[in-house]
Amino acid sequence: MAYFCQNVLKIAASSIAGHGNSARFAAYRLSSTAVPSYQHIIVEKQGAKTNVGVITLNRPKALNALCDALMREVSTALDELEKDKDVGAVVITGSEKAFAAGADIKEMVSNTFSQVYGGNFLNHWNRVSTCKKPVIAAVNGYALGGGCELAMMCDIILAGENAKFGQPEIAIGTIPGAGGTQRLIRSVGKSKAMEMCLTGLPITAQEAEKLGLVSRVLPPKELVAEAIKMGEKIASHSKLIVAMCKESVNQAYETTLQEGLLFEKRTFHTTFATADRKEGMTAFAEKRPPNFTDS
Ligand code: CAA
Repeated sequence: MAYFCQNVLKIAASSIAGHGNSARFAAYRLSSTAVPSYQHIIVEKQGAKTNVGVITLNRPKALNALCDALMREVSTALDELEKDKDVGAVVITGSEKAFAAGADIKEMVSNTFSQVYGGNFLNHWNRVSTCKKPVIAAVNGYALGGGCELAMMCDIILAGENAKFGQPEIAIGTIPGAGGTQRLIRSVGKSKAMEMCLTGLPITAQEAEKLGLVSRVLPPKELVAEAIKMGEKIASHSKLIVAMCKESVNQAYETTLQEGLLFEKRTFHTTFATADRKEGMTAFAEKRPPNFTDS
């Protein structure tokens, strides 16, 4: 792939420095291919078939605060992973201490209204939610402010037992600016979303699971491996049908029930125009595994 770079060892070394996790390094050497000269993230392909893209946020000294350059790198990585025909799912993760402690406050501190309004500040973060491939957030530690918002832009959130989700912007004189007031309410309901946004206090992984913000809570050390396993399962299906399914589920966010049901029905009908629908059903009838061609 064009985006694979030569400095594999350099990136791996920074991975170790950032995470102190030699087990992941071993997995990386065995079954992944690393990517370009990103400064704030590590991008790998993981899994037995190297078909799961893993983006690791890597600004350990700033608890993965989401500076502009980091989020631009995430966008570029998603562009590349989206183009990569082998990749069937993407995992975004951080360190055991922090998924991300929010937008970079020090970078924002001197911004003026005319700058942020004129430049549509944070607009490009939306790239995560427009990825056609499923994106799984594997959240250990702090997911605060923009970190919580980044997780909510993903399709599935898995949390480590130590994860903390919160929208603390109110405490620094601002409000969530990357979906916190909108996506949170759709996950946890109005009262809890208001409580979190207005008090700025975080919730635990266990509360987040109860509220439906995350789908599973796992031991921190198993989290990323489980997310990759989930990514591999998704990647084992037809990528074409997976994309259609994701688009259909996302319609529930955007539209009325009647319109959403119609969208789903038409998308379901459209699967009958694909080779993979025919193959999937034929394989079931013939009691064999399907051989999807993503067509
Ligand atoms: N931006 C910039 N730097 C940050 C940061 C952030 N969001 N969060 C942490 N850091 C930096 C700290 O400044 C510190 O750097 P130095 O060592 O250079 O001083 C380093 O990361 C470690 O942080 P702490 O010493 O504060 O670590 P802690 O363990 O004592 O506390 C914490 C951890 C509770 C997460 C605390 O760092 C914190 O409250 N961070 C800010 C959280 C926040 O307010 N996030 C919202 C940001 S605004 C936003 O996200 C807007 C939006 O909607 C997009």
